[in-house]
Amino acid sequence: MELSGLSSPVKIAVRGLTIDYPGAAPAERQRVLDGVDIDLHDGEFLCVVGPSGCGKSTLISAIAGFLTPEAGSISLDGKRVQGPGADRGVVFQEYALLPWRSVLDNVALGLKIRGMRREEREAKARHFLELVGLADVAAKYPHQLSGGMKQRAAVARTLTSEPEIVLMDEPFAAIDAQNRLILQEEVLRLWSTLGLTILFVTHSVDEAVFLGDRVIVMAPHPGRVASVVAVDIPRERRRWPAIGSDPDFIRLRDDVLARVRAEHGARRQ
Ligand SMILES: Nc1ncnc2c1ncn2[C@@H]1O[C@H](COP(=O)(O)OP(=O)(O)OP(=O)(O)O)[C@@H](O)[C@H]1O
Ligand SMILES: [Mg+2]
Repeated sequence: MELSGLSSPVKIAVRGLTIDYPGAAPAERQRVLDGVDIDLHDGEFLCVVGPSGCGKSTLISAIAGFLTPEAGSISLDGKRVQGPGADRGVVFQEYALLPWRSVLDNVALGLKIRGMRREEREAKARHFLELVGLADVAAKYPHQLSGGMKQRAAVARTLTSEPEIVLMDEPFAAIDAQNRLILQEEVLRLWSTLGLTILFVTHSVDEAVFLGDRVIVMAPHPGRVASVVAVDIPRERRRWPAIGSDPDFIRLRDDVLARVRAEHGARRQ
């Protein structure tokens, strides 16, 4: 079976990516990522799981262009990433909505910063609010929304800037179980209708196997890629709750879970 996205060209190539965080003293300098190689293909939905502290958020920040590597490189369409850019949009775990701005203004903010006229940016923002099912709360303020609605608004804000790559760092971690499943189906719908390329970090192995074309399992101390698992479950079977009892889903979930468990507390020999 052909895995969607994988026959397409590599969009983001991470090669030998090595990142250190400086400590209070030079001896406390910490290697957080060590020689990470990842290919994110055009149109792919790639998930990343791994024990807490293995460098998943650091990987997202580096690809977003917020960090300077110690060694190695990140390239987008063959061009080296030197810093942040509108071609990469990030959705963080915290919604990071500005409380004093309406939902519409929050979603349109990136376009405003880029100098787009009010009418045009509001039309665009309304379009994406509609896509995430928030058309009728455009005039409300963030404190008037539920957690799930805030996360939808944060997704709409990122999509409104029309990035080529969407980097998502545990976007649904704070959402209750029921809404989380709905948001997972929503993000799949947006991914397929808009033709997005997504790198999605999560603590949840179920979420990763439900969403991903492939799942990368990271190992800690220092952060590196331990293994890559292809999710060969047809997209049309990926519906909650039926997928939860699908033998292929259970087999893959258990396989990835065992790999993540094997990395807990692991240190490179
Ligand atoms: N700004 C920073 N300065 C120094 N060390 C940092 C910084 N950010 C993260 N670290 C350290 O780098 C390592 C990796 O952190 P990171 O946040 O990337 O892990 P993670 O895999 O996203 O963890 P989690 O699953 O808990 O979100 C951790 O040991 C953390 O303490
Ligand atoms: Mg993190």
